[in-house]
Amino acid sequence: MLNKDFLWGGATAANQCEGAWDVGGKGVSMADILPGKIRQKYIFADPDAFYTKKFDYYPSHIGVDFYHRYKEDIALMAEMGFKCYRMSIAWTRIYPTGEESEPLEEGLKFYDDVFDELLKYDIQPLVTLSHFDTPLELNSKYNGWIDKHLVDCFEKFCKTVFVRYRNKVKYWLTFNEVNAVTKLFVPNGTRMKEGDNPDQIGYQVLHNMCLAGAKAVKLCHEIIPDAKIGCMVQYSPVYPYSCHPDDVLAALDFERDRELFAIDLQAKGEYPYYTRRMFKKLGVVLDTNEDELEILKNNSVDFISFSYYMSLTYAREEFVAEQTEGNIFSGIRNPYLNSTEWGWQIDAKGLRFACNRLYSLYGKPLFIVENGVGVDEKMVNETVNDNYRIEYLKNHIEQLKEAVDDGVQIMGYTMWSPIDIVSNSTGEMRKRYGVIYVDLDDDGKGTLNRYKKKSFYWYKNVIETNGEELD
Ligand code: BG6
Repeated sequence: MLNKDFLWGGATAANQCEGAWDVGGKGVSMADILPGKIRQKYIFADPDAFYTKKFDYYPSHIGVDFYHRYKEDIALMAEMGFKCYRMSIAWTRIYPTGEESEPLEEGLKFYDDVFDELLKYDIQPLVTLSHFDTPLELNSKYNGWIDKHLVDCFEKFCKTVFVRYRNKVKYWLTFNEVNAVTKLFVPNGTRMKEGDNPDQIGYQVLHNMCLAGAKAVKLCHEIIPDAKIGCMVQYSPVYPYSCHPDDVLAALDFERDRELFAIDLQAKGEYPYYTRRMFKKLGVVLDTNEDELEILKNNSVDFISFSYYMSLTYAREEFVAEQTEGNIFSGIRNPYLNSTEWGWQIDAKGLRFACNRLYSLYGKPLFIVENGVGVDEKMVNETVNDNYRIEYLKNHIEQLKEAVDDGVQIMGYTMWSPIDIVSNSTGEMRKRYGVIYVDLDDDGKGTLNRYKKKSFYWYKNVIETNGEELD
């Protein structure tokens, strides 16, 4: 049985839905130089191309035009009975390059209007401070988050938005999926030179971002004492492929390195006990000092939020098995699970496992801030009969309820995503997650009109019955 104040809702990110990339003085962010359909070709192989190539189409420039249509979208969320809407503030709407001394009033006013619109319907904003859209200038000039100057720029941005929205926003998140930054160039913005140790760069970037996150926690607690601020990680429980002890240890190592390590830094405010050995193996020597470690220690988050799309399966290095696709991280194909069209393995029970694992390790309230299924779907008679999405969400919500019955404290659930938006990993529109369809294709063509899918009505009833009726 869920508490009556359980926060039901949906989640988006500014760069995937707002569009209006150069309106109101907004600066260019990292997300604004990522192309559409061919994004994946470069993500791991040649991220430098994002800086050096001119592409035909940049989906963040249009998004799904939430910037101009937020009233219509929020009215639809209100119709579903949303208690909460997770969104992000585009840093570059407030500080176009990240370095200005004064914020941009037009950008601040836009979010004031969005928050007012949400509060009009009693929808609590849950705001991510940074969702993969660092100002491009900070990346080009300072080589991204490897430079601690970005910590100061981020602190200034946080102070501005906490002061401005202190009466409107009571739930905040620091960095989206911050655990991804050790391996991913897009969120960390740091280009490597020949001879660089990627782990050295990755863990220094993670340190700098978690330090910035701890400073944000401190400011938030000082400026909005009645607010709660959480970290946000991509969490997939990691199953050993077999009971071979080496598979079990390999799964543990993978989970620690990619996921738990970053949670320890933010939820316990300290480097976990296995750090020394891990850093030695990876050749990592951190640039830090006592003051920074103290800031981390004294400013841990109030809650842990995470995205959940799949579990992962892992084995000892020498074991050869069929691999599967995944969200940021991937592993071995689990033969007991089905996959989405994009090869993400569906594992509803993994959500219950994830909640129990995180709660038993950290003992802090959890918030599931992303969960959903991307499907290439066509509209027929102005709707989509998306029974598969209903099935997916139903199975996951069932397991969320099981976790609550197990005793895990869960603050809320914001599915990804109430409206179809641009896919983060592929830049496609055809990878649709919404319960609301948006008429826009991968080339940016379409009316941008919104249509309710079958799941819209289903989710409305789930919220109305506080998760009691799932069929
Ligand atoms: C999460 C991100 O990793 O997964 C979102 O926080 C993203 O930004 C979501 O959209 C789904 O991934 P994708 O690549 O299918 O859009």
